[in-house]
Amino acid sequence: MSNTMWGGRFSDSPAAIMEDINVSIDVDRHLFAQDIAASKAHAAMLAAQGIIAPDDAKNIAQGLDTILSEIVDGKFTFKRALEDIHMNVESRLAELIGKAAGRLHTARSRNDQVATDFRLYVRDEIDALDAAFADFQRALATRALEHADTVMPGFTHLQTAQPVTFGHHLMAYVEMAARDRGRFADARGRLNESPLGAAALAGTSFPIDREATAKALGFARPMANSLDAVSDRDFVLETLSAAAIAAVHLSRLAEEIVIWTSPLTGLVRLSDKFTTGSSIMPQKRNPDAAELVRAKTGRIIGALNALLIVMKGLPLAYQKDMQEDKEGAMAALAALMLAVRAMAGMVADLTPDKKRMKAAAGDGYATATDLADWLVRTLQMPFREAHHVTGRIVAAAAADGLALHKLPLAAMQAVEPRITDSVFDVLSVEASVKSRASLGGTAPRNVRTQARAWLKRLEKEQQRQ
Ligand code: ARG
Repeated sequence: MSNTMWGGRFSDSPAAIMEDINVSIDVDRHLFAQDIAASKAHAAMLAAQGIIAPDDAKNIAQGLDTILSEIVDGKFTFKRALEDIHMNVESRLAELIGKAAGRLHTARSRNDQVATDFRLYVRDEIDALDAAFADFQRALATRALEHADTVMPGFTHLQTAQPVTFGHHLMAYVEMAARDRGRFADARGRLNESPLGAAALAGTSFPIDREATAKALGFARPMANSLDAVSDRDFVLETLSAAAIAAVHLSRLAEEIVIWTSPLTGLVRLSDKFTTGSSIMPQKRNPDAAELVRAKTGRIIGALNALLIVMKGLPLAYQKDMQEDKEGAMAALAALMLAVRAMAGMVADLTPDKKRMKAAAGDGYATATDLADWLVRTLQMPFREAHHVTGRIVAAAAADGLALHKLPLAAMQAVEPRITDSVFDVLSVEASVKSRASLGGTAPRNVRTQARAWLKRLEKEQQRQ
């Protein structure tokens, strides 16, 4: 039997393999809520414009509501032979209300339908991700406030560089997440135009009201060009690129958690809630969640790559290639959601080992820059010269196997006679972080101000919702 929805000029049914490659119901069934919402808006508009009878519109709307609850309640049978969500819904509608169901598809096509549905879906995903990233920021800022003066080693080249505070380190990720949210918001702003009414590609001869359907679905306006409306997938690409960058950020923090929780550094401990054991090595506490957050980045970047490659060189307007936009994107956005929620959980859960952090912060002559700055400030030495003098003092300390603040004054004076006792005030790691009070610097006071400001901002945002 040929397809009941479009089989008019067909006498034979598709080969089994044709059906296999063609069907999208396993993926686009997830668009059911958006598909039904868009159909309801379309039917109401058709009636308002006098294109279909009010009675038909009413029956269509009721039938669509029934289908919605059937799907939500798991009572709907999705049929592969009906290819996709659009035809599954329409076919069930015909079973429920009879012939009037056939009027729903007036002045539209699956091409504008799927573009509309998927825009609505991606919009919903962006909103959910934005809330999840706000939760992540809240977890970070809360812990940052708690650890505003917990000193840890700051690294460049993964070599001990200068002492920083753990709070400052966490707040760096709050800023990254803010940019991620900004990118999602930008993508959302541009995607929020309605393709509905572009029909197959050229528009329609019926007197439709695209403004009305756009408004009913929460779009800012209808898309201006019907060819663009059915062939554009920028909204998926933009959202996936925002997702890819966000995933890269999460993977960096994930990697840091892996490093911090390794016995090699022992800077942080995750509780049992966020660790797993080994089936053979009883001592193991593995940071699996962090590793998986790091790994999810692969499929998220992969989805962006895959869709860029699908879209490259596609002529206007709709091509079936574009059906491949959904599977990867849906999986990628779901993976990002999982990753950000797991990361927020880990951030809330982790315990820094303050003693080890402080000891590590002082290792490797991390306050050498503070000594150089002291020479500049107190002896008016040019920084380059101070750098050189400090280098010689560090070498002297290293030769004796001493930390900088343990090197006797006399040994420092052997290199630079004008050095006084007051130099020891800047050589502790606490003094070091406290002194870095420049805007954006690691000083505990800065960190507290930043963390409080963010928590307040996040709370205000939440109240507005
Ligand atoms: N399942 C299709 C998709 O996801 C819907 C649009 C099909 N349009 C068409 N002309 N075959 O892209």
